[in-house]
Amino acid sequence: MIQIDFTGTTVLVTGGAGFVGSNCVERIVRAGGKVIVLDDLFTGALENISEGVPYEFVQGSVTDYELVRNLMTRVDYVAHLAARNIIISTKNPFEDFQTNIGGTLNILMAAREVKPKRIVYTSSASIYGNPKIIPISEDESPLTFSPYSVSKLAGENYCYAFYETYFVAVTVVRYSNIYGPRQNPDNPYCGVVSKFIMTAEAGGSIQVHGDGHQTRDFTYVDDAVDGTLTALLSPRADGMSFNLGTGSETSIIDMVNILSELLGKKIACEHIDRRDIDNIRRRVLNIERARTRLRWQPRVTLREGLRRTIEWYRSVKKRSV
Ligand SMILES: NC(=O)c1ccc[n+]([C@@H]2O[C@H](COP(=O)([O-])OP(=O)(O)OC[C@H]3O[C@@H](n4cnc5c(N)ncnc54)[C@H](O)[C@@H]3O)[C@@H](O)[C@H]2O)c1
Repeated sequence: MIQIDFTGTTVLVTGGAGFVGSNCVERIVRAGGKVIVLDDLFTGALENISEGVPYEFVQGSVTDYELVRNLMTRVDYVAHLAARNIIISTKNPFEDFQTNIGGTLNILMAAREVKPKRIVYTSSASIYGNPKIIPISEDESPLTFSPYSVSKLAGENYCYAFYETYFVAVTVVRYSNIYGPRQNPDNPYCGVVSKFIMTAEAGGSIQVHGDGHQTRDFTYVDDAVDGTLTALLSPRADGMSFNLGTGSETSIIDMVNILSELLGKKIACEHIDRRDIDNIRRRVLNIERARTRLRWQPRVTLREGLRRTIEWYRSVKKRSV
């Protein structure tokens, strides 16, 4: 496994106040690096970064080219996570276009001038749509069903174009249903695990779209962060895409059953209409490329990840009463 060591380096984390970004910030600092966070706090919050973790915060948007360029002159690496999420994107595709495509283009244009050591761009398994072959490999043809998947794929394509045309060292990672501490339960599509935990803990009944037999590749946030930062440090990753999932396919119902066991109570389920966004029947990623080329592999089982997430949720609740 590649050692995650940022000693003596500075990393620009866009979207560093968000769910995955804040976990990246803390991991980079633990690995000896300095961090500059660029975030407009649209969905992120500074409370996501634990007290006492040193970092510099810049409130601003990745759509501001001069700001992005100036910050880039001060760093060695860039972890680009800032994005409008699928809910915002569906409501207002133009807003998504501006941040997810325009912001990514800004990062790459600045990198063409400034030449950081490497950039990692965080894409999504949503670019695969309903895949033909399971588990989904990186070579599967993209099938973009939502404006969000269009913008995430466009960001990727700009990355490959800038790698080939301007030799910008950039790597793409594709996430699938990340869950864990700090995920905002307000987003019912991305934050299903935290939403289920919160509802079940409060004694409510959870809402499951359709029959609940649709599957996802639930990835614990620490594993996604380790994969992302391994890719950021790896010269063997330039110009390539990597699935960062678990390779395990779990239905929503099975995930709820594990949660019930861990919470020690039967969770009441209400079945509602099929989803209108990201309505994919089966999703599980083939992660062989990341295993062999990055020597990364997920370590946290779904049961253990859910246990840790429940523990985190309870500790936050205790602190807030
Ligand atoms: N969480 C998942 O399951 C998942 C799955 C696939 C892909 N991704 C990708 O991973 C990245 C991080 O996702 P997340 O789940 O942490 O989402 P998040 O919403 O928690 O984090 C995104 C962060 O970006 C910030 N942001 C939004 N627009 C910005 C702008 N114009 N300028 C600066 N900052 C801006 C937000 O305030 C937030 O802090 C995103 O690029 C997302 O598309 C996440």
